[in-house]
Amino acid sequence: MIKTVKLQDFRNFNELTLNFSSGVTVILGPNASGKTNILEALYLLSTGKSFRARLEEEMINYGGQVARVKGTVVDEKGGSNTGPAITSLEVILTRGKIKVGDDPEKIQNIPRKTLIKNGVSKRLIDFAGKLKVVLFGPWDLDLVTQSPSLRRKFLDTVLSQVDREYRRASLSYEKGLRQRNRLLQRIRDEGVPRTQLAFWNQLLVKNGNYISDKRGEFVDFANKSPGFLDQDFSLIYDASAISSARLERYKEEEVSAATTLVGPHRDDIIFEMRSGKSSKDGKIDLARFGSRGEQRMGVLWLKMAELAFIEKVTNEKPTLLLDDIFSELDHEHREVIFEVSKSQQTIISTADQHYLEKSIEVERVEL
Ligand SMILES: Nc1ncnc2c1ncn2[C@@H]1O[C@H](COP(=O)(O)OP(=O)(O)OP(=O)(O)O)[C@@H](O)[C@H]1O
Ligand SMILES: [Mg+2]
Repeated sequence: MIKTVKLQDFRNFNELTLNFSSGVTVILGPNASGKTNILEALYLLSTGKSFRARLEEEMINYGGQVARVKGTVVDEKGGSNTGPAITSLEVILTRGKIKVGDDPEKIQNIPRKTLIKNGVSKRLIDFAGKLKVVLFGPWDLDLVTQSPSLRRKFLDTVLSQVDREYRRASLSYEKGLRQRNRLLQRIRDEGVPRTQLAFWNQLLVKNGNYISDKRGEFVDFANKSPGFLDQDFSLIYDASAISSARLERYKEEEVSAATTLVGPHRDDIIFEMRSGKSSKDGKIDLARFGSRGEQRMGVLWLKMAELAFIEKVTNEKPTLLLDDIFSELDHEHREVIFEVSKSQQTIISTADQHYLEKSIEVERVEL
């Protein structure tokens, strides 16, 4: 769990230090006070990436040159005699260039992002995943109906947190895919020989199969997770399998389209729901037939499954980050969330304190 976080020139904060308890912390502040920015900083410590910045530089304070986010993470199951194990995580962001001396012409390139764990600079795949988080914000609420790429991104976020090999395979797959698509274009436009495809095919098949297997495992796990109130949800993994045989079958189409047509970059997950209201065996396709409220409950269910999955795989409870979602949910479903908040470290942001349940004990941070 996260113990402290210190921000310097990060978004609207020049300097901010926060301490978190192991229970529920509520960050209370009006619109534009920086609530989402704080959760973004925590997510950055967890994954090494932002969930919203298009360019990472956007996270540096308008007036600043360098942003720092530093946190201490306590591993509760850490050594029993030595006390809990503590890890320090730090992300440093720059604009990529600094002036050297007084000469305005002298500009030196510097890394845009540095990830540091216990004082040692790390690659992304070795930095991510120490702090485990499940983030849930208003932008997630339409996941059921949005584009497949967002559902793939969801799967990647879950699996990348718990599996270093998945992080490696995804990076390798993405790079390989770009190279292979470029090659397909050169085959089509410049008559480059097709034999060069073999190398990329092998790389994509190997990494693609790992990705599909892990995504399948998450879907199977989610399908065993309980629903709530009178609704049960499930997922269908609509996988685009990749194999030498499939690549062989589509090779002509791939060359003329100059793009790779099969593989996990074409996967999707489809939500289904069975409720007290539907016919006895009736499962419905949530995207097509669900009400907006039901679709949102499907996402809530998926987030609960994500929490349970991370805990099962890593034996650690992730920190739940809830960004201002209460105004979007009805009373009954807010209750579901409060119930879940009690069982792990939870950090909730809200502009409106009347949503806070009196029955649960919370630490407050006012912005
Ligand atoms: N790089 C930056 N430098 C300085 N300020 C920034 C930067 N990026 C964003 N901001 C500002 O930070 C402020 C707080 O943003 P944030 O999204 O965290 O607010 P919030 O408290 O979540 O608000 P809401 O309740 O509306 O969601 C905004 O006014 C935004 O313009
Ligand atoms: Mg916000």
